[in-house]
Amino acid sequence: YMPILDQCFNLMDFEAVARRVMKKTAWAYYSSGADDEITMRENHSAYHKIWFRPRVLVDVKNIDFSTTMLGTKVDIPFYVTATALGKLGHPEGECVLTRGAHKHNVIQMIPTLASCSFDEIVDARRDPQTQWMQLYVNSNREITKNIVQHAEKRGIKGLFITVDAPQLGRREKDMRSKFDDTGSNVQNSGGDNVDRSQGAARAISSFIDPSLSWKDIPWFKSITKMPIILKGVQRVEDVLLAISHGVQGVVLSNHGGRQLDTARSGIEVLAEVMPELRRLGMDKQIEIYVDGGVRRATDIIKALCLGAKGVGIGRPFLYAMSAYGLDGVNKAMQLLKDEMEMNMRLIGCTSVDQLTPDMVDTRALSSH
Ligand code: FNR
Repeated sequence: YMPILDQCFNLMDFEAVARRVMKKTAWAYYSSGADDEITMRENHSAYHKIWFRPRVLVDVKNIDFSTTMLGTKVDIPFYVTATALGKLGHPEGECVLTRGAHKHNVIQMIPTLASCSFDEIVDARRDPQTQWMQLYVNSNREITKNIVQHAEKRGIKGLFITVDAPQLGRREKDMRSKFDDTGSNVQNSGGDNVDRSQGAARAISSFIDPSLSWKDIPWFKSITKMPIILKGVQRVEDVLLAISHGVQGVVLSNHGGRQLDTARSGIEVLAEVMPELRRLGMDKQIEIYVDGGVRRATDIIKALCLGAKGVGIGRPFLYAMSAYGLDGVNKAMQLLKDEMEMNMRLIGCTSVDQLTPDMVDTRALSSH
C-alpha cells in the first residue's frame, strides 16, 4: 500500500512514505546521522524553541516572499542543498531536483558526489535557472582546480566549499547496511579503489583533503570569480574569519547532523552570530545561510527573522523524489509556498524585509 500524493500534507509525510518504499541501503544512506543522531534530531527540534510575536491588523491581502540569494531572484527563500548519491532514490537522480527547482524558481546546489555527472545536471537546467556547486576539496589540487573552473565555465553562480567534513562522520545505520552501488555512479570521487565495508559515505569520500585550511582560501579566490561560500561554519569567530578572508557567504550547518554529533543546530548558531555581526556593524558584509532540519515554512520564517538570507533543505526533497519522482518534488515545494503565504499572513508580514528579530522570541534558545 502506497499513499497517493494527495495524501501528503507536509514535508514529513514524504519521509514516512520514502521509508516504506525505498531500498533499505538507500534509506539508510539518506536518513542516517552521525553517532547517536542527537544533532540530527536537534536540528529540527531547535526550531520549536523559537516562538512568534505576530503583528495584528496589518493589511496582509498581498504577500510577496520572493528574495535574492547571491544576486539571484528566487520565489521563496530556500534552496535545494547538495545531497550526494541522488540515484539511490530515483533513476534520474539529481536531474529530478533540477526540474523541480526550475518549476518553482529556486536554486539547486549540485553536490560534488552527485550520481549524475556534473554536465548532465547542468544540461538539465532550463535557463534562466541558477545552480550552485558544492565542493569537496581533493588532496590533488589540480583535480579540484579543474572541477571549479569547469563549473564556472558552465555558468555555476556560487561555489560552496564544505568545511565540516575533513573526515566523514560515522553514520552507523549506513555502515550497517553496507555499500551497494547499484544504480549510482559517482564521477568525482577520484578513483574506484575504495573500501565499501564502511557504508556508502566512507566508500566515496576517501579523496577529501583533511589538511584544508584558511590558508587555502586565497588560492580558491585566485582560480575562480564565482562567489565563495563556506558550508558548515559553526561559531561566530569563524564567521568573522570568513569575512576577513573575503568570502561572500557562509552556511551555518552541521551537515544535517551527519558529521560531528552534539554540534549545535544551525539556527542556534545563527542566534549567536547575528547579534555579534550587528554589534560590529558587519552584518551587511556577508550573506548568512542556514540549513538542517528545516521542514516547515515557519522554520524558514524564523531563520529569516534571525538574519539568514535563506535556508537550505536537503532530505525532504530526496524523500519526495524517492517516493513520487518529480511530482513529489514539485508537491513538496508547493506545500512550502502555500505554508509560507499563510504563515506570513498570520504573523502580519507582507515581505521578507519585514522579517526582523523582534518578530520572534528566542529566550528558550541557549545562545540567547
Ligand atoms: C548531505 N549533505 C551533504 N553536504 C555536503 O556538503 N556534501 C555532500 O555530499 C552532502 N551529502 C549529503 C547526503 C545526504 C543523503 C544528506 C541527507 C545530506 C548535507 C546537506 O547539504 C545539508 O547540510 C543537510 O542535508 C541539511 O539538513 P536536512 O535538510 O537534510 O535536515
